[in-house]
Amino acid sequence: MSQRPHAPARPPGGSAPLLVVEDLRTEIRTPRGNLKAVDGVSLTLDAGETLGLVGESGSGKSVLGRTVMGLYTTGPAMTVSGRVLIDGADVHALGDAGRRELWGAGVGMVFQDPMTALNPVKKVGVHLTESLRRHGGLSRAAARARAEELLRLVGIPEPARRLGQYPHELSGGMRQRVVIAMALANEPKLLIADEPTTALDVTVQKQILDLLGRLQDELGMAITLISHNLQVVAGRADRVAVMYAGRIVELAGADVLFAAPRHPYTEALLASVPRLGRPPHSRLEAIDGAPPDMVAPTEGCRFAPRCRYAREDCHRVPPVLAPEAAGGRARAFACHHPVRPVVAGGS
Ligand SMILES: Nc1ncnc2c1ncn2[C@@H]1O[C@H](COP(=O)(O)OP(=O)(O)OP(=O)(O)O)[C@@H](O)[C@H]1O
Ligand SMILES: [Mg+2]
Repeated sequence: MSQRPHAPARPPGGSAPLLVVEDLRTEIRTPRGNLKAVDGVSLTLDAGETLGLVGESGSGKSVLGRTVMGLYTTGPAMTVSGRVLIDGADVHALGDAGRRELWGAGVGMVFQDPMTALNPVKKVGVHLTESLRRHGGLSRAAARARAEELLRLVGIPEPARRLGQYPHELSGGMRQRVVIAMALANEPKLLIADEPTTALDVTVQKQILDLLGRLQDELGMAITLISHNLQVVAGRADRVAVMYAGRIVELAGADVLFAAPRHPYTEALLASVPRLGRPPHSRLEAIDGAPPDMVAPTEGCRFAPRCRYAREDCHRVPPVLAPEAAGGRARAFACHHPVRPVVAGGS
């Protein structure tokens, strides 16, 4: 296993973060009204850093990833507001040409379902060379050579033969490696990996996640690792953002977050996943209740109806994501009545 987390490679002179997200909101139009899929998210990511983005199904992780990429923009189907800066470029102020250029070199995405990223009637080689030639301006021969090199980079044996195969001729793990190779084609500074391993069995999951860690070390890119499973980001993310109902409810260094969650939702999530080191037969608690309706979310804290610590004010006053009071530089949470920190000295 690659040794994540390590100190992110900060740009010299402490310059601006690679990714800046400011009060991002993505509303999707539905027959029932606008669904607030992302509802005021702000975060930053440094060059070379790994941010884990976790939360239950439907919490808005994929919509956030796609909006950050600039794949989701204001149009007939949705409204986007707020700001996304990648390496200083305002993603939503760029025109189509500018965005395509950004997708070439600035940011790559591994989509949740590898089959949607692959066209069943196109060979593996065509997927790779198209993306290389579109962004990289390579000749046909140079693109083919680079495609082979990319397959080798993501650990696909016999790359020359694989280039001539169709997606359905590959195993799930191999397909996901191809999708990663496509996202890496032009060596992005930021890779958004959306559930890169969900469809795969546990052994292949680990191989793919280890591969991402290795590529990150080699290429020096930042990664946003999206997963509904905290275990996937454990040991791989430098920091973790926990999303609930379109908002980030806790953001902290991974060690701190796993050791002593402050938001009751983080605590509940941690209690609901099997963890290494947990006694083998200890009970996993499912989180009771269901997430809110994002077309008409309730006032106050959105987790309050499911929260065992909730008091009257929680149902009325929405908590804001604020840094921990006592010099907690590395952590912020949005909660009126947070989980009490574990007393130092306990194990
Ligand atoms: N194209 C769409 N049209 C309507 N609603 C959508 C669309 N895409 C996403 N949503 C809704 O937006 C919310 C957030 O969806 P999103 O896919 O971002 O969740 P997620 O956190 O990625 O979940 P999962 O863990 O299942 O991938 C959900 O309520 C989802 O139903
Ligand atoms: Mg998703």
